[in-house]
Amino acid sequence: MILYSPQDGLLTLHTAHTTYQMELEPHGFLRHLYYGARTDNADFRYLHRNYDRGYSGNPAELRNDRSFSVDTMPQEYTGFNAGDFRTPSLRAVHADGSYAADLRYAGHEIVNGKYALPGLPAAFDRDGNAMTLIITLKDTATPLQVRLYYGVFEELDVITRATEIVNGGTDAVYLEKAASACMDIPFGKWELLHFHGRHCMERQAERVPLGHNAQTVESRRGASSHHHNPFVILCAPDTREYAGECYGFMPVWSGNHKTEVETDYLGSVRVVTGIHDSQFRWKLEPGQSFYTPEVLLSYSATGFSTLSHNYHDMIRYHICRSQYVGKPRSILVNNWEATFFTFDTERLLRIAREAAKLGVDLFVMDDGWFGTRNDDNSGLGDWFVDERKLPGGLRPLIEGVKELGMKFGIWMEPEMVNEDSDLYRRHPEWVLRAPNRAPMYCRNQLVLDMSREDVRQYLYDCFSTLLRDNEISYVKWDMNRSVSDMYSNALPADRQGEAGHRYVLGVYDLLERLTQTFPDVLFEGCAGGGGRFDAGMLYYTPQIWCSDDTDAIERLAIQHGTSFGYPAFTMGAHVSACPNQQTGRVTSMYTRGVVAMSGTFGYELDLNRLSDSEKDEVRLQIDAFKKVEALIRDGIYYRLNELEEQEFYSVWEFAARDGSEALVNLVVKHVLANAPLCHVRLKGLDPAATYRVEGSDSVYSGAALMSGGYTFPMLWGDYPSMQLRFMRVG
Ligand code: DGJ
Repeated sequence: MILYSPQDGLLTLHTAHTTYQMELEPHGFLRHLYYGARTDNADFRYLHRNYDRGYSGNPAELRNDRSFSVDTMPQEYTGFNAGDFRTPSLRAVHADGSYAADLRYAGHEIVNGKYALPGLPAAFDRDGNAMTLIITLKDTATPLQVRLYYGVFEELDVITRATEIVNGGTDAVYLEKAASACMDIPFGKWELLHFHGRHCMERQAERVPLGHNAQTVESRRGASSHHHNPFVILCAPDTREYAGECYGFMPVWSGNHKTEVETDYLGSVRVVTGIHDSQFRWKLEPGQSFYTPEVLLSYSATGFSTLSHNYHDMIRYHICRSQYVGKPRSILVNNWEATFFTFDTERLLRIAREAAKLGVDLFVMDDGWFGTRNDDNSGLGDWFVDERKLPGGLRPLIEGVKELGMKFGIWMEPEMVNEDSDLYRRHPEWVLRAPNRAPMYCRNQLVLDMSREDVRQYLYDCFSTLLRDNEISYVKWDMNRSVSDMYSNALPADRQGEAGHRYVLGVYDLLERLTQTFPDVLFEGCAGGGGRFDAGMLYYTPQIWCSDDTDAIERLAIQHGTSFGYPAFTMGAHVSACPNQQTGRVTSMYTRGVVAMSGTFGYELDLNRLSDSEKDEVRLQIDAFKKVEALIRDGIYYRLNELEEQEFYSVWEFAARDGSEALVNLVVKHVLANAPLCHVRLKGLDPAATYRVEGSDSVYSGAALMSGGYTFPMLWGDYPSMQLRFMRVG
């Protein structure tokens, strides 16, 4: 609900449990008043008191009221070089060389439905309940305008924000910073929970206090990165999974991003989030608009779990557009860790045959099927089947897979090229690379200039032909290096600061065209594992390979961190061979299954190499997964133990929305002698119902399991685990 009260200039956004209020302040400033628990009929203007603070200056027309300063005013979107010395939202250079903007209210509109952003992924209104508020601000001295977009998803407790910057003048303006949103939280003590990582260890949750300084969560790697996920949470010091306040900020963006969290001299916290201003300079021609990516905001007064649920539902139902949302996904086997580059049709079919016998539905051929791709030094860009490995092309392989009753999927890495490729020999100008400068190599590959229409058309032609001519049900879209050397041969000198941003827009454009042309193909995102795991990519690919680390124990921390912002069924998770390829660790097939089942389940090994008893276990795993697939996909996910307990064990649950069942998973990471028992309180059950643990005679009431909880038996050995399915029986 969006309310406007003209007599006191209040704009109020209500969701089911939150209220967001701002004021059209009498001098034209857009003042942020409140974001927090839902409060009906409140006028939060009383919260803010003005005092002369010294060194915080006053606007010209208010020079005699020294208590009025934009430097101490909570704001929705700041100008710059005009009296607010905190982190700005915007930085633009006008034709006369001046750097300033003093933004004042110029109008607003409230409309039904959800705004869209040209060329950008953004949340959409699936059920006709969303509303949009657009506020226009104008610079006092130039024709620069800023339009602030707010999307209200009432039931989900999510408010989206984005910004359009309009050049209303006759000269070009250069944008050097264009954040999606600014939010000031003037009161309270806050901590920052963010998700850092590295290749093979993405999204590690880290909680740190805020000091009187600025902390930044950012990527300058051209992609959202393994290193800093574009999602942060501000939480009160006492916030836990099921209690306490927290705010989430999630840019829907897959490129360079930056979230700045600054505590000012009065203790007010400012969060400015969106695209990174490093290597960014956008020439905004007269009459043109620049649209920032969207950011998803949410607030919870009842801990991290509620916040996660808000994001999970937002992403599942209003970000992921694929028809596969809400549908069973095939259980796949991928040949990467089984064969790497060394395979031929027969070797792949051997894996597929065994997989089919065990109940796998989809065979995915990974890297190495094209060009001269015998290792990772050559071939990228030449998207033509290597007939030395696959005689007769893809057809015999696909036919063989189909005869086994399985579907066929394929790997691709559209954005990259090897120097040793026909494509590079034909079009060296198609890569990002500054003149007269040797590029930075990574995995011996260079980055195609996705800002170029001719590059995208080449890729579209290659992949649309591939998908049209072959029965391909699934695509894994990989991206295996950070983007550097951001220089486009197709852009003039004064637009080179646009190359990195246009790269991502180009990726989105190609994804849009391919996913819309082939809606029946399930696309899985990937970037050396989870190096581009973000809401922007999820708009096009409803699942993303979560990490190249398939070690079940390391995966616990990766999937746990990822779960704060993203639903389980967006995470690609596979059972792989032991000793594990990344760590050498040995875990049981059972534990590997428990962990991989909390994602889009599959296998990443040569199933022929398993013993008969392991194969029996795989069969049981697949049967078990099929029974709970809908619960994992559409149910509510609960982290049952806290962040600081994760070192020893991890417990999580999926509960059906109607309370009919729950799947509880425990993995012990560190077995201790004579250890205290692991005890958890279940969530999301019907307190009046009775539940039986599948496979046993034990029966409990929902109320007992949620209040008294459940005590696990003592588990022994290396990395033991337990999966319990509680079924409502009365
Ligand atoms: C990185 C991916 O994450 C792996 O799963 C695999 O597809 C390789 N790339 C192939 O090069």
